[in-house]
Amino acid sequence: MRILAIESSCDETAAAVIEDGRKIISSVINTQVAEHGLYGGVVPEIASRRHTENIVGVAEKALGDAGMELSEVDAFGVTAAPGLIGALLVGVNFAKGLSLATGKPLVPVHHLRSHIAANYLAHPELEPPFLCLVVSGGHSHIVEVSDYTKFKILGKTRDDAAGEAFDKAARAMGLPYPGGVFLDKEAAKGDPKAYKLPKPKVEGCPLDMSFSGLKTAVVNILHNAKQRGEEVNIPDLCASYQNVICHALVDRLMLAAEEGGYKTVVAAGGVSANSGLRALLERECKRRHLRLFVPPLELCGDNAAMVGSQAYYEAKEGHFADLSLNARPTMPIDEDF
Ligand code: KG4
Ligand code: ZN
Repeated sequence: MRILAIESSCDETAAAVIEDGRKIISSVINTQVAEHGLYGGVVPEIASRRHTENIVGVAEKALGDAGMELSEVDAFGVTAAPGLIGALLVGVNFAKGLSLATGKPLVPVHHLRSHIAANYLAHPELEPPFLCLVVSGGHSHIVEVSDYTKFKILGKTRDDAAGEAFDKAARAMGLPYPGGVFLDKEAAKGDPKAYKLPKPKVEGCPLDMSFSGLKTAVVNILHNAKQRGEEVNIPDLCASYQNVICHALVDRLMLAAEEGGYKTVVAAGGVSANSGLRALLERECKRRHLRLFVPPLELCGDNAAMVGSQAYYEAKEGHFADLSLNARPTMPIDEDF
C-alpha cells in the first residue's frame, strides 16, 4: 500500500510517499523556520499562509520524486490534530480534496502518534509493545504503546512541554529560534554542574513532570546577574538546564520501564534530537539492559514520512475519515478520530 502523506501542523509543509508503513519512497519538507525566526517564534497566521502557498508544490515534488501519478496513490494520510488550527486546516482540506478527486481513502493521523511512527521507518525490527518518551514543542508524555494504534498515557507534563521549556529559556538567554537547537549547541561547551537548578517534580505523581518552575529559575538567574552587573556563563547555564531537563525525563521513563516491566524503550518528537537526552537515554538503557530506539536526526522533527507510516497502521485498523473530517488543535493521543 502506497500512501501520500501530508503534514502541516506547525511550521513545516511536508509531503511523503510511504510504502506499507515502513519504507520511505520520497519525502519533501519545506520549512518556514527562517521566517518565523525573525519574530522569535512561530507566527500562526504566517504559518497558515505559507502552507497554503507551498502545499501543492511540495506534494507534487513528493509524487514526482517517487515517480508516481496521483492515480497510483492508494490512500491519503494527513495530520489532523493536534497543532495550530489554521495550519492543520490547510493540510486537512488539501488531503480531503485529493481524496474527493481520486476516490481514494482519507486517513487522519494524530501528530504524536506519527512522531512515534518515525521509529518504524528507521528501525525495521521495532514492533509494539514498548514504552515511549514523546517530547516535542507542545507535549511531553510517557506513553505505553501496546499496539500500533493503542496508546496509554502514563505520565505527562503539568505545564510547559520539554521543547517549550528549552525554547523559552533559550529565548531568555538571547539565543536564536528555534531555541532548543541552539541551547543544545551551547550546552556542549558548558559544565552541567555549574548552576544549581531546582529538580522539577510533581508531588504524589512520580511519572508526571513540571518544567515551568525550572524555566523561571533560569529567568531569575539572568535577571539577578543583570541587576548586579555580572556576566552569565551561557554555555554553563545551558548545560546545567539541559542536564536537569534530561534527567527529569529519563528518570521518569526508567521508573515507568521498571514498574511496567518493559524491555523496549523508544524516544520520539523534536526534542529527541537533543544530544544530552540521547546520551543519557543510551547510558541508562544500557545499564538496565533495555533495548533503546531513537529516530535518526532527520526524522526527529516534523516531517510527512512519519505521517505516512502511522497512516498505514491506522488504515489497517479501518480508521478512515469522510469529507466531514475537521482539524483539532488539541486531542489526546489515546483517542481515535
Ligand atoms: O516535534 P517538533 O519538531 O514539533 C512539535 O510537534 O512541536 O518539536 C519541536 C521542538 C522545539 O521546541 C525545538 O526547540 C525542539 O523540538 N528541539 C530541540 C532540539 N531540536 C529540536 N530541543 C532540544 N534540543 C534539540 N537538539
Ligand atoms: Zn512535532
